[in-house]
Amino acid sequence: MLQVLDLALEYEADTNRPLYTGKIIACIFFEPSTRTRLSFETAANRLGARVIGFSSLDATSVTKGESLKDTIKMVSNYSDMIVMRHPLDGAARYASEIAGCPVINAGDGANQHPTQTLLDMYSIRKTQGSLENLSITMVGDLKYGRTVHSLLQAMSHFKPRFRFVSCPELAIPQEYIDFLDSRNIPYTQHHELEGQMDDTDILYMTRIQQERFQDPMEYERVKNLMSLDVSMLKNTKSNLRILHPLPRVNEISTNVDDRPEAYYFEQARNGVYTRMGTITYLMNQL
Ligand code: NCD
Repeated sequence: MLQVLDLALEYEADTNRPLYTGKIIACIFFEPSTRTRLSFETAANRLGARVIGFSSLDATSVTKGESLKDTIKMVSNYSDMIVMRHPLDGAARYASEIAGCPVINAGDGANQHPTQTLLDMYSIRKTQGSLENLSITMVGDLKYGRTVHSLLQAMSHFKPRFRFVSCPELAIPQEYIDFLDSRNIPYTQHHELEGQMDDTDILYMTRIQQERFQDPMEYERVKNLMSLDVSMLKNTKSNLRILHPLPRVNEISTNVDDRPEAYYFEQARNGVYTRMGTITYLMNQL
């Protein structure tokens, strides 16, 4: 992870580096995406590689009933690396066992989103000067939010203290609680954001993942419970930064956007550098 972050730092200083002309990267997105797909495509282009792929299922043979296995076999025949997003937990790992080339997980269901984590870590290191000993407050959909799951595992290497703030229905799954317990990482759980920010260094807001709810009524019940307004940013630390993987719905009021703590748009820009770093890291192993 730190190697990728260091590569990203170099790419931020000098972004047009056509190191991989002649290489083909397939970006195959079985689920909607704006930032992840476009920043991967930008990263690939800035590195001189060419991009093939699809951003929705409509134009693919999946609509004819082709299996994931066959689709991955075909795509890996055509490309040097695959970037893949899929609604099923574990889909990217499965694809990596079938493909003859590296597969980058660009989000698998409610499970993981590791390259988002790399850009989150890059943003944390950049704004805090270090990844160590930080107080991290994660808010919103901690159950289905794959960015939360990946980030807490990655940050566990850097002596964090976690606060988890969600309604009871969207609490952090037990497997992640067990993970933290097994590593003696301190955490507390809360149902209200108010009062939880005083010693926070990183406030990680997330969207309620509507697409993962089986019951639309349950989504309606919880969709507006957790939201940050500018009036809540009192008595906070001067180094506090607010991160959000985006897209935002209602969880951060737009009156927060001009505050110095708001870092989510810069965070998204960091995605290009860290994805250039990720591609480079993997190309170096081919
Ligand atoms: C996130 C995702 O897809 O998990 N978006 C992203 O990649 N920036 C978060 C979300 O969709 O809420």
